[in-house]
Amino acid sequence: MFIVLEVLLLTLKIIAALAVDFYHLFVPYPKKDVSGKVVLITGAGHGLGRSFALHFARLGSTLVLWDVNTEGNEETAKQVRELGTEAYTFTVDVRKKDVVYETAKSVQDKVGTVDILFNNAGVISGEEICNLTDSQIVRTFEVNAISHFWILKAFLPDMIKRNEGHIVTIASQAGKFGTPRMSDYCASKYAAVGLGESLHSELRVLGRAGVKTTLVCPFFIDTGMFTNLSFKTDSILKQDDAVSTIVDGVLRNKREIVIPSKHNIRIMFKAFAPFSVYDLIEDFTAINVGSQSGKYD
Ligand SMILES: NC(=O)c1ccc[n+]([C@@H]2O[C@H](COP(=O)([O-])OP(=O)(O)OC[C@H]3O[C@@H](n4cnc5c(N)ncnc54)[C@H](O)[C@@H]3O)[C@@H](O)[C@H]2O)c1
Ligand SMILES: *[C@@H]1O[C@H](CO)[C@@H](O)[C@H](O)[C@H]1NC(C)=O
Ligand SMILES: *[C@@H]1O[C@H](CO)[C@@H](O)[C@H](O)[C@H]1NC(C)=O
Repeated sequence: MFIVLEVLLLTLKIIAALAVDFYHLFVPYPKKDVSGKVVLITGAGHGLGRSFALHFARLGSTLVLWDVNTEGNEETAKQVRELGTEAYTFTVDVRKKDVVYETAKSVQDKVGTVDILFNNAGVISGEEICNLTDSQIVRTFEVNAISHFWILKAFLPDMIKRNEGHIVTIASQAGKFGTPRMSDYCASKYAAVGLGESLHSELRVLGRAGVKTTLVCPFFIDTGMFTNLSFKTDSILKQDDAVSTIVDGVLRNKREIVIPSKHNIRIMFKAFAPFSVYDLIEDFTAINVGSQSGKYD
């Protein structure tokens, strides 16, 4: 008897949730004010990380910039300061957990509480499975996935205590589709997707939904990360467009951002299509990521 009532109640809640979703198709959620907020970005010395920094600088946020590449990071800081906001740089290899924990303490001392955290640093190898070196495999997992845990352990407890803050996980569509010569990258991005989803569920169960999460899954972007790439039916995303879409979504507390959004159809197609058909489509789109010529060695 009770279960019937519970299912009825659930049905009503689902209808209400769908109505709210439908309404927000036409009236987007408002953007939050991030002026004066502290935004920490890993991998801030190049590509998306630098663009995120400049976008938040224009919105009046204070930037905390982490990168293993000091020179690139300082260049980002310079461009942020030219926009009239503060930037604090830290040279950090996010793979080194002790360095992450110590640097997090200096951030707390020098800058204060972090409001928005971008787990953005990432690397790609671009080799067939048997040609990946052992250290490439470990590096890809450490940078693209495991480092997220060190950084979360450093900053999440404070956000949970305050029931406020925002974690942005920069994953990839490589976390939705397995791809040739991307096995280490895809596996690490699937890990990041799993972490991003679990983080969201965990915060809800803890009654800490005030801490927002955004999981980001873009297609290829012209940041220069991929130097040896070809495909037939798609076009590479422009860095500025991708970053504008991501920042807009973060400001509206979007839970997941797939770019381009039409690739949601591809994600659904993969779930429903017979494998035989999926293989044919995969051959047709011919996504081909080749060796990155040892660019991180
Ligand atoms: N470019 C794309 O096509 C694309 C597509 C989907 C997702 N992504 C993801 O977006 C994120 C940013 O990519 P991008 O295109 O800006 O790459 P990028 O190579 O332009 O920049 C990555 C930055 O991360 C830094 N970094 C690398 N290893 C680090 C480490 N161990 N510690 C600290 N910093 C480190 C690099 O120094 C660099 O400044 C990555 O996670 C990437 O996987 C990129
Ligand atoms: C990959 O490894 C195989 C066997 O070791 C070798 O024959 C081949 O040339 C390698 N391919 C590349 C792209 O390095
Ligand atoms: C591109 O990748 C292919 C396949 O891994 C490789 O054979 C080729 O040398 C790469 N080209 C460059 C310029 O790195």
